[in-house]
Amino acid sequence: MAGSLLPLLAVLLSAWPAVGDPEGPAHVDGAPPSKIAVVGAGIGGSATAHFLRQHFGPEVQVDVFEKGEVGGRLATVTVNHNDYESGGSIIHSLNLHMQDFVKQLGLKYRRSVAGKTAVFNGKEMILEETDWYLLDLFRLWWRYGISFIRLQMWVEEIMEKFMRIYKYQAHGYAFSSVEELLDSLGGSGFINMTRRPLSESLLELGVSQRFIDEVIAPVMRVNYGQNVSIPAFIGAVSLAGAQNNLWAVEGGNKLVCSGLLKIANANLLQAQVNAISPIQLGETLQYQLSFTTAAGTGSELYDIVVLATPLQPSVGSGVQFQGFTPPFDELPGNYHNTVATIVHGYLNTSFFGFPDPRLFPFASILTTESPDLFFNSVASVCPVNISAGFRRKQPQEAGVYKVFSPQPLDKSQLKMLFRSYYSVQVTEWQPYSHYGSSQGLPPVELHPSLYYLNGIEWAGSAMEMSSVAAKNIALLAYHRWNRQTDMVDQRDLMHRIKTEL
Ligand SMILES: *[C@@H]1O[C@H](CO)[C@@H](O)[C@H](O)[C@H]1NC(C)=O
Ligand SMILES: *[C@@H]1O[C@H](CO)[C@@H](O)[C@H](O)[C@H]1NC(C)=O
Ligand SMILES: *[C@@H]1O[C@H](CO)[C@@H](O)[C@H](O)[C@H]1NC(C)=O
Ligand SMILES: *[C@@H]1O[C@H](CO)[C@@H](O)[C@H](O)[C@H]1NC(C)=O
Repeated sequence: MAGSLLPLLAVLLSAWPAVGDPEGPAHVDGAPPSKIAVVGAGIGGSATAHFLRQHFGPEVQVDVFEKGEVGGRLATVTVNHNDYESGGSIIHSLNLHMQDFVKQLGLKYRRSVAGKTAVFNGKEMILEETDWYLLDLFRLWWRYGISFIRLQMWVEEIMEKFMRIYKYQAHGYAFSSVEELLDSLGGSGFINMTRRPLSESLLELGVSQRFIDEVIAPVMRVNYGQNVSIPAFIGAVSLAGAQNNLWAVEGGNKLVCSGLLKIANANLLQAQVNAISPIQLGETLQYQLSFTTAAGTGSELYDIVVLATPLQPSVGSGVQFQGFTPPFDELPGNYHNTVATIVHGYLNTSFFGFPDPRLFPFASILTTESPDLFFNSVASVCPVNISAGFRRKQPQEAGVYKVFSPQPLDKSQLKMLFRSYYSVQVTEWQPYSHYGSSQGLPPVELHPSLYYLNGIEWAGSAMEMSSVAAKNIALLAYHRWNRQTDMVDQRDLMHRIKTEL
């Protein structure tokens, strides 16, 4: 979620190797379905529409329902005639699908504008990035010893295994649950990591408590608004993402969503889906979607339905399941509230111990877990369009800042963080799962041709994770439709893929 990916960690973590083109040829046999519905036009839903089109071919009708804006949690706000990302802005290094989308859509990467990061503990800066890479490396070494090498190796090992997904998907393999997917990549170790607190895994690795408190916790606070009790798998995914900030799309990340819908030749319906029910006619099972548009209510029958919107009751997707036997239990889990406040004004650098703003060298401030702190991070942000002459505003000038906090900021809190301000725009998100370590992972297959995408968020909430889930669901729907059981939940895939080549 954070715009400020932690450059300090970039010092720690090196780039991952790239693998080849993830697109394999689609198998074409069997009569295709005639109509498919996707509910939700965020990155998950748009990518699903795109992959469904690839696998099912040009004939099938793909309808995408969206009650709000295309892009979902990828959204922008306008301040002083410029647009800024208010929602998802982490695109992480495991970004092969996202890279592919950007390339196919002819979009551009947004230029990154240098800016230093520091970690604040409520009283002082405890970690400050410098201009000099070797000095940062030396300081980290001096302060944390072997911890960051251990962390780097751990994250690298996890990501190397995770990268297998691109090979499996390129060969057309699909998984019927998030557990099966994780198991095929990293065995029971990966599944265990979705259940166990990050802090516990790191301590076991020999990472020091100090490193966890001063480096890991601030990154989890800015990325997920939560502490180091989040599951280890999520933590590892976001640490891998902390290493580069190349990743934003010129004009706004949401352009990926609208672009994908376009190349998928999908029909976008501005509608709230109210209910879904199975309709069995002889051998044929279809789903009826009832929906409300600005023009009134309607309903349509579909052969395949993909739900790409969080279904937890607390989020209020508004979709009722009717006529399913047995009835669906409520999906477990909650989404976590985070408030993004975009402020146009003058940062109060005194608050951070720098009475003279001209001496304040930082663009992003992360925070440690501290009872006095009412915010998770504050960062100077750049607009989604960066012109050639763009430079980041200096702290003594009025600039645009994004503050993440668990609760909306009240006036006195704003006055503490900002000397004065012109405007304040508040976006309340439930952007990521509230990760408790006890719940299981939600199912992918809810019913024979009814799929649920957002369960992946319990293993990792990032645009790329949603894209991986989208590809998986398109493949799964395709194989289920064509009864190709040998392409689903296969074991020992690394070996099989080697022998296939
Ligand atoms: C995962 O947890 C299960 C059950 O607690 C255990 O049997 C298994 O060995 C663990 N796997 C790994 C790789 O640690
Ligand atoms: C993290 O937050 C949860 C509540 O969200 C709390 O139960 C837990 O004790 C906290 N853990 C740490 C290590 O602070
Ligand atoms: C921002 O960038 C996008 C993509 O390059 C472009 O379509 C749009 O016109 C730009 N907007 C402005 C205000 O420059
Ligand atoms: C800025 O921060 C300082 C130090 O915390 C505080 O005393 C002051 O009230 C804050 N606000 C303004 C407007 O200076």
